Amino acid sequence: ESAEKGGYEHFMLKEMYEQPKAVRDTLMPRLDDENRILLDELSLTPEQLNHLKKIIIIACGTAWHAGLVGKAAIEKFVRIPVEVEIASEFRYRDPFVDERTLVIAVSQSGETADTLAALREAKMKGAHVMTVTNVVGSRISREAQDVFYTWAGPEIAVASTKAYITQVMALYLIGLKMAELRAQMPQEEITKIVQELKELPSKIQQILDHQEKIKELANKQIHQHHAFYIGRGLDDYTAREGSLKLKEISYVHSEAIAAGELKHGTIALLEKGTLVVAMATQEPLYDKMVSNMKEVKARGAYVIAVTKASLEKEMQQSADVVFSVPDTLDILSPVLSVVPLQLFSYYMAVARGADVDKPKNLAKSVTVE
Ligand code: G6P
Repeated sequence: ESAEKGGYEHFMLKEMYEQPKAVRDTLMPRLDDENRILLDELSLTPEQLNHLKKIIIIACGTAWHAGLVGKAAIEKFVRIPVEVEIASEFRYRDPFVDERTLVIAVSQSGETADTLAALREAKMKGAHVMTVTNVVGSRISREAQDVFYTWAGPEIAVASTKAYITQVMALYLIGLKMAELRAQMPQEEITKIVQELKELPSKIQQILDHQEKIKELANKQIHQHHAFYIGRGLDDYTAREGSLKLKEISYVHSEAIAAGELKHGTIALLEKGTLVVAMATQEPLYDKMVSNMKEVKARGAYVIAVTKASLEKEMQQSADVVFSVPDTLDILSPVLSVVPLQLFSYYMAVARGADVDKPKNLAKSVTVE
């Protein structure tokens, strides 16, 4: 097993370090020399695509968080309504699905029972069913009409890292290709985004290269019993993923909440020293986030902010510690801003002596409903 870990202490650490490669491997084979997206995986014709009324993304756990980012991106690029459903809820509400619905099932393993059952339900109702999965030949890949493989390579650690990032990349590519086919965006604009996508692997690498600061930070927070993650827009989705990571491997109780909702309940739980991780990478939402951070600091919270490099200086006035990720387009920032959160959870879990790769009560792939 230690040989498989390639010198890393845990699979999770190894897999976080594989993220630049995983992103590159998922992206590059789908681009031609002029940065145009080739996506044979999407078998719908432009006519069928124009006929679509909505898209539903179904997934569980971390894949569901990727779906939330995917919704924001696809709605922005394609201007078509996207719903994101937890697979285990989807079947039980007689979902409104027909042949003008595209369903995208996102599943690292391609074996999650709830996601498979939801996919079958959607197919039975006449939807066109696509999957984003990491495992060739998995059950979900065999039952979907279109398969987009994330080329993240095998993911062993129960806590998903590189698979998540490549799921988000997949949904960007699907959205951009659909925008092209439905003539929703000028080609130059799509190419500009693709150029930014190509920069992401080296930007992830930069974050990994500065992980020492996060490790130190985590080592100082191991006494915490609770953590709250806040953010707005895309940052809210990343906050949810960061919060899940922390609780699943370090066993610190953690909650993520849309920052604007704090004042409707959760703020009552804050006391001196409570850990709050505030995500603030979205330019238009920056001022609103700063005022939420002031609210939590006024109650004595210890605030770790994650922002982008160009906002780091400013942010220092509003947080106890600031961690910045390289600048990119706001819509692409989840691929970067999740990395410090993964590292923070990892080092918290290690420092607390948890079994990082195999957390208690959890399985890598859940094949029961
Ligand atoms: C389990 C794993 C999670 C994963 C979820 C969905 O709970 O521990 O990491 O996000 O299942 O798995 P899938 O394979 O469908 O993405």
